[in-house]
Amino acid sequence: MENLKNESIEVKLLLDAIYMKYGYDFRNYSKASIKRRIEGFLSQSGIGSISFLQHEILYNQVLFGKLLSQLSVNVTQMFRDPDFYSALIKHVIPELKKKKIIKIWHAGCSTGEEVYSLAIILKEEGLYNKCRIYATDMDEIVLQKAKKAIYPIKYIQEYTLNYNKAGGQKSFNDYYTAKYDFAMLDSGLKENILFSNHNLASDSVFGEMDIIICRNVMIYFDRELQERAFKLFKDSLCARGILCLGSKETIRISEYSDAFEDIVAPQKIYRLTK
Ligand SMILES: C[S@@+](CC[C@H](N)C(=O)[O-])C[C@H]1O[C@@H](n2cnc3c(N)ncnc32)[C@H](O)[C@@H]1O
Repeated sequence: MENLKNESIEVKLLLDAIYMKYGYDFRNYSKASIKRRIEGFLSQSGIGSISFLQHEILYNQVLFGKLLSQLSVNVTQMFRDPDFYSALIKHVIPELKKKKIIKIWHAGCSTGEEVYSLAIILKEEGLYNKCRIYATDMDEIVLQKAKKAIYPIKYIQEYTLNYNKAGGQKSFNDYYTAKYDFAMLDSGLKENILFSNHNLASDSVFGEMDIIICRNVMIYFDRELQERAFKLFKDSLCARGILCLGSKETIRISEYSDAFEDIVAPQKIYRLTK
């Protein structure tokens, strides 16, 4: 039997309770990151202990919704890491031009900024019409926001800089309409995107994808859960399919490492070897 400290026991019981009551499985997330987030939640909400939080979330779904947002970490932005998008334009787009239909899976898409960034690039490269983009997340609240594609105007300046650095061909303001404090993205960007719920910790493969993009999601997983996700991605890609990870993530720690070759190693863009 594992000999755990009291606080670790409290965290474990809280995660078990969340799983049993709501079906969200955080049991294989990185312990340090989960502990930090729970502590942050306790100090924001004024709840005195992890055990009391466990009791509260069992009976208070609204409170659980708030805890879920804190645990799942939804931070994102448009053209996050512009060098990643420039690498896609240079090394991946030319290959895609040879395909008749392109199936793309964005796993852990959060509020959609990353998906719409790719949609813009695909439009500019004349590929959007032959793309089917499946954008998934385990958090229903962020999916609802993603479908709306309305973002605070205060971020637009940063997104414009990112877009230009990434190699955008037009003016970024061609893609949104400003209204009061918000920017509404062009509805044409949504046409070929299907948002749906998928949990990398418990759901199964998404078949025959040409590209899977899962960035800044697995940094929050422990090794066991990372390995589950890597297997899921390997099994969901078509032959010679492409996998894109976040800047702090790598396939090279995985038992499936040999199944992938580098396309652009520093940008974590890989291809199945067969
Ligand atoms: C930090 S955001 C990354 C968003 C985007 N990919 C990016 O790089 O900007 C992490 C997202 O992963 C989602 N996520 C966390 N665990 C997940 C899981 N087990 N299955 C699916 N999505 C998950 C969270 O809900 C959150 O929206």
